[in-house]
Amino acid sequence: MDESKSIKLNNGLTMPKVGLGVWKSSNEETSNMVATAMENGYRLFDTAKQYGNEAAVGAGLTSGMQKTGLNRSDLFLTTKIFNGDQGNYDKLREAVNGQLKRLQTDYVDLLLLHWPVFDKYTESWRALEDIYHDGQAKAIGVCNFNVEHLTNLLDHARIKPMVNQIEFNPRIHQPDTVAFCQGNAIQLEAWSPLGNGQLLSEPVIKKIADDHDKSVAQVELRWELQQGFVVIPKSTHAERMRENMDVFNFTLTPDEMEAIAELDQEKHSIWYDKFKWSGNPDGVDDYIAKTNAF
Ligand code: A2P
Repeated sequence: MDESKSIKLNNGLTMPKVGLGVWKSSNEETSNMVATAMENGYRLFDTAKQYGNEAAVGAGLTSGMQKTGLNRSDLFLTTKIFNGDQGNYDKLREAVNGQLKRLQTDYVDLLLLHWPVFDKYTESWRALEDIYHDGQAKAIGVCNFNVEHLTNLLDHARIKPMVNQIEFNPRIHQPDTVAFCQGNAIQLEAWSPLGNGQLLSEPVIKKIADDHDKSVAQVELRWELQQGFVVIPKSTHAERMRENMDVFNFTLTPDEMEAIAELDQEKHSIWYDKFKWSGNPDGVDDYIAKTNAF
């Protein structure tokens, strides 16, 4: 069976199922990574203002398009609204204009609220709806929203989010959020799909990988794809980029899916709890102070 390598969002926009994440990539390496990924078949690129590398992504997209002959319309670009830009309509819109300029484009394919900043995300969403209406984003969505955030957002929204990007890998499943998104046609996207590289010597997955003649990384991505997720693994290496894209020619059995699911510890990355936004305005201010340089 020829499996599609893309999905359709709830507004009809087509999104690739596998993309390149560039969180924690320096400016120096990012533009090269993006161009190299494009040459190796990647069309989806995921950045954020908070990563501090949007300009490098823009440069990488431009050089990648020159090298491959692809057009902007062949690509799917995601960026995210910085927490410090949330809550004030005009400030947010001005910030997005700056982000587009750095990315060297008139629009992004997907614009996400990076975190559910306490008391601010519904007002921020109003700005995103207008940005979508004005064509600066072909789809809009959120990241790190749980059921409570999503329910509150839907109570206020004119437009339903098209995507929720959450931390998801064999160690962290967030089942309530997943069920809510699946029940509401909100596409799930996994950040840190390889557990930030910490999950690559897990014996249970290694055995399954050997049985399929695949790598542990490929099995993890496959496990996420088979649950309907879009995945954005980060890699600086061309060889690994190719490996992470080569995940459409095997299928995990229900028993293998279950064996991997049993590795769940419902454990977020170590840093996540420090930045728990919901009901924690102090945490947000602290974070904004630290990252206001962007
Ligand atoms: P590198 O950038 O040196 O290739 P995540 O996307 O879950 O945050 O994981 C990213 C981490 O996993 C990075 O440290 C990356 O290292 C590593 N990585 C990405 N793809 C692979 C792969 N196919 N095999 C081994 N490590 C990988």
